[in-house]
Amino acid sequence: MNLFKGLLAATTILGTVNVASAVELEVTHWWTSGGEAAAVKVMAEAFDKTGHKWVDGAIAGGGNARPMIISRIGGGDPMGATQFATGRDAEDLIRAGLMTDLTELAEKEGWKDIVRPSKLLDSCTIDGRIYCVPVNIHSFQWMWLNRKVYEDNGLKVPTNWAEFAAAAPALKEKGVTPLAVGGENWQLVGMAGTFMAAMGGSEMYKKIYIEKDVEAAKSPEMTKVFEAIAASRTMVDKGYVGRAWNDATNMVIAGKAGAQIMGDWAQGEFAVSGKVAGVDYDCLPGLGVNPVLDTGGDAFFFPKPKGDKPEVVKAQLELASLLLSKQVQVDFNLMKGSLPVRGDVDLNTANTCMKKGIKILENPDNVMPSQEQTFTPDAQGQLEDLWVEFFNNPDLSVEVAQKRFVEIIKYAE
Ligand code: GAL
Repeated sequence: MNLFKGLLAATTILGTVNVASAVELEVTHWWTSGGEAAAVKVMAEAFDKTGHKWVDGAIAGGGNARPMIISRIGGGDPMGATQFATGRDAEDLIRAGLMTDLTELAEKEGWKDIVRPSKLLDSCTIDGRIYCVPVNIHSFQWMWLNRKVYEDNGLKVPTNWAEFAAAAPALKEKGVTPLAVGGENWQLVGMAGTFMAAMGGSEMYKKIYIEKDVEAAKSPEMTKVFEAIAASRTMVDKGYVGRAWNDATNMVIAGKAGAQIMGDWAQGEFAVSGKVAGVDYDCLPGLGVNPVLDTGGDAFFFPKPKGDKPEVVKAQLELASLLLSKQVQVDFNLMKGSLPVRGDVDLNTANTCMKKGIKILENPDNVMPSQEQTFTPDAQGQLEDLWVEFFNNPDLSVEVAQKRFVEIIKYAE
């Protein structure tokens, strides 16, 4: 090895990893919108700085990416790391022994004391072992409104679902779509869950999501949820089927629609468009009806490499540690529009909407579980089929749909 290479090697050993043990990790995720891509770049650049290499494996659309990632790992073609929603998506893969165990690292670094709320780690823990590192808190239960759309049409900017619904006909008359929706299944599922938290209320929501309580599924509160979803069908444009979530967000940003019910990752799109919370757009947690939020979000899982590759496992653990580091937590979450999973970082540049979210989540009573955290993938699939059919088929009555919902909850695990 000549002098230059020796110095280079020495530098890298001092600075980060030894060049000889630099590892390329293929990292899969479904963050392909403007805001998401800017956020995941923060992670990739931080990992590259260590001397390892982040090989980006972006797959558009959670609905496509999730099954593809699961089948690759199950089929013996594992990537180095993958994003999933924090929850039960990888449960079968973990139980099949296909995922790298992070428990020793988590104990060495004290993740149980760092991660807030600590129950986020519960979603990564199976039989007492930890298999993922949570990286953010996302909540779905938000409505994002373009203030100018209402002001330009002489309308009060809605502060809750009822005011939004009341203003919808006036917007339609002006040729503005009241509610921007992307017809991907997961979006309709998230919207239904948001109506359950808002119209159904926290008690009903928890009884159904956690206890799988049939009486709550039959309740008049749940009927109100179905009625609100039925009403929302009349507020969307015909082109919603198959529309990506960020295209719906951009309809609101461009003033083509009044509002969107979407997770707080939508803030990443407003941010990259230069829009300012409280000035250009407003945000209504719990649709302004019941300000509660789920602590969904994302976590990274690390499939075991094929064959005996300790250097890959070492790089996986280094990436897991990096994703939870203070610097990456702040830089990534500010870009992603999500909240950090650490209680010891200062988001002083958080905007008014993020600050609303932080305030709500400070009270554990306002924290709802996400669907991925409470239903098995099978039950999630059944609920998805029902919400998609109910939203797309106006001939499916509230009464019949709710009866089907009760049956799903009755047998859900
Ligand atoms: C969610 C994910 C978010 C967001 C959204 C839309 O599942 O947790 O990070 O990006 O998909 O892609």
